[in-house]
Amino acid sequence: MHLALLHPGAMGSTVGQSLVDAGHIVSWLPEGRSAVTQARAVQFQSFATLSDLINAKPDGIISVCPPAAALATAQMVANALAEAEFKTIYVDANAVAPITAATSAEWFGEHYVDGGIIGPPALQAGTTRLYLSGPRAAEVARWFSAGAIQAIALSEGGLTAASALKMAYAAQTKGSSALLMLVNAMAEQAGVHDALQAEWALSQPDLQRGSERTAARIGPAAWRFAGEMEEIAATCTALGLSADFHHGAAAIYASLADLKGRSDVTLAEVIEMLARPTV
Ligand SMILES: NC(=O)c1ccc[n+]([C@@H]2O[C@H](COP(=O)([O-])OP(=O)(O)OC[C@H]3O[C@@H](n4cnc5c(N)ncnc54)[C@H](OP(=O)(O)O)[C@@H]3O)[C@@H](O)[C@H]2O)c1
Repeated sequence: MHLALLHPGAMGSTVGQSLVDAGHIVSWLPEGRSAVTQARAVQFQSFATLSDLINAKPDGIISVCPPAAALATAQMVANALAEAEFKTIYVDANAVAPITAATSAEWFGEHYVDGGIIGPPALQAGTTRLYLSGPRAAEVARWFSAGAIQAIALSEGGLTAASALKMAYAAQTKGSSALLMLVNAMAEQAGVHDALQAEWALSQPDLQRGSERTAARIGPAAWRFAGEMEEIAATCTALGLSADFHHGAAAIYASLADLKGRSDVTLAEVIEMLARPTV
């Protein structure tokens, strides 16, 4: 099969690699993408334009991009498919709210498959799941017959169940990470950071050990997590729940956006950035 991937980021490139491992041809669009993405995509076939890609009649298109860009990417593809009068499966595997996914679903109709990825970029088997939902979810799951990604078609929760599951999972993991960073900054500003670390070492050693590790992990991707937190807030609102916690987490991640792509982020640096007055 020919499957198109938009785009081969840290996660997307491993989704593409799993499809290659399963014997598929994977294509992508270099136009507008950074050198980092281009370097990750050397094993994929490139097309100069989206209409060239669509004229090659892919069996499916998978979107793995920053959550804040998911709708624009879906709309661009839907418009190009309509122009070419061609229909194909569109998998939106981004961390977006079910209501965002439902908007994309309207553009693709019965060919829309919802997705949500849980786990790190799939460099080895057993680490990363691609949850899928919608009438054609089982069909898409079969694309991943080999490779490191485990694809799971959900049988409950309706068309956007995969997004709902991803939102619930990330609300806890990334919400907790934002809270941990905020608490560290609060203790530092109050002059009790060493005392808090000492108390955590006694009573909650995971928090003490995890603070530095969490800063290093979330710093480089904080710019992207801000959009994901807003999608979680929208999910809460749509369900009649308070969105305040995750709006707050979005603000925390947004204030760390300048750490994008860095590999040497420290807790001290995160604390310093969080303590900076906002303008
Ligand atoms: N990384 C993880 O551990 C992880 C885990 C679970 C789920 N996910 C999900 O996977 C998706 C992508 O994550 P990732 O780690 O692959 O991110 P990433 O490494 O930042 O890659 C994002 C990809 O999208 C491209 N992109 C950037 N801005 C864009 C825009 N405005 N419109 C369209 N494409 C754009 C990037 O190209 P450039 O190189 O040009 O910027 C890159 O190819 C997200 O929805 C995320 O929630 C990731």
